[in-house]
Amino acid sequence: GKVGVLMGGLSAERDVSIMSGTGVLAALQSQGVDAHAFDPGQRSLAELAAEKFDRVFIALHGRYGEDGSIQGALELLGIPYTGSGVMASSVGMDKITTKILWLRENLPTPEYAVLGADSDLDAEGARLGLPLIMKPPHEGSTIGITKVSDKAGLKAAYDAAAALDDCVLAEEFVEGREFTVAVLGTGKTARALPIVEIVAPQGNYDYNNKYFTDDTKYFCPPQLDQAMQDEMQRLAVAAYRAVGCEGWGRVDVLLREKDQKPFLLEVNTSPGMTSHSLVPMAARATGVSYEELCVEILRTARL
Ligand code: DAL
Ligand code: MG
Repeated sequence: GKVGVLMGGLSAERDVSIMSGTGVLAALQSQGVDAHAFDPGQRSLAELAAEKFDRVFIALHGRYGEDGSIQGALELLGIPYTGSGVMASSVGMDKITTKILWLRENLPTPEYAVLGADSDLDAEGARLGLPLIMKPPHEGSTIGITKVSDKAGLKAAYDAAAALDDCVLAEEFVEGREFTVAVLGTGKTARALPIVEIVAPQGNYDYNNKYFTDDTKYFCPPQLDQAMQDEMQRLAVAAYRAVGCEGWGRVDVLLREKDQKPFLLEVNTSPGMTSHSLVPMAARATGVSYEELCVEILRTARL
């Protein structure tokens, strides 16, 4: 049947999505799939309906594409789609609700505070300790995130995040190593792929070091004892299930240096599929090519 690759969209991660979608489109076409690009940032839902896609691969990131909005539209149009459903997409896009669900299941995630215009930044800074991380809770790709090392920096970091969102998430800074765990499948069949360790220049895995430089080093599998790898994969699958994710996703994890304790940061329900992205890297470590991965994800498309 006819397959749509949804890419672009209206979020701050539009450019990343175009990179992901371009890769996915070419991969599916190379495997003989009748795939066509569709950009819901430039074309209407009426035009989407008129395309009469039999199913779609969602290669959108961020708001409207990863947060349940397009998923809801596809439900109404009756078009099967890849990845999580409306609720898990919406929860996964909200780092605060995600934490609340994880904490209910005793899954470890850094201490946090939700800040608004009337918050006492100094008091919250004192409670969480410095350095801390300030981020817009509904963004991706590190957009709007600042590490705050001293009290004087709190306000500017708050303002940078608040400019992008309706509230701000302040998080305890976890000093240690950075990992990510791709998860494929749904419910009881959800399984983790090999872990990827990310070593960014000066520990700064920001937008530029994610997509544009070749200075970030990746290790898959990572140098980590087997027991810790098993534990991290177990946590990632539990975190994915706690949010109700389906199809595929990626859970970001920090390993605190001082006590070797893992902390869950967030789940990405429509992870990057760019040439620098991590789910394809993890799949490759199991002998699955980028093209095969795209076909496998497409196969999970459903309503
Ligand atoms: N938000 C980006 C696309 C990712 O998590 O890969
Ligand atoms: Mg993210």
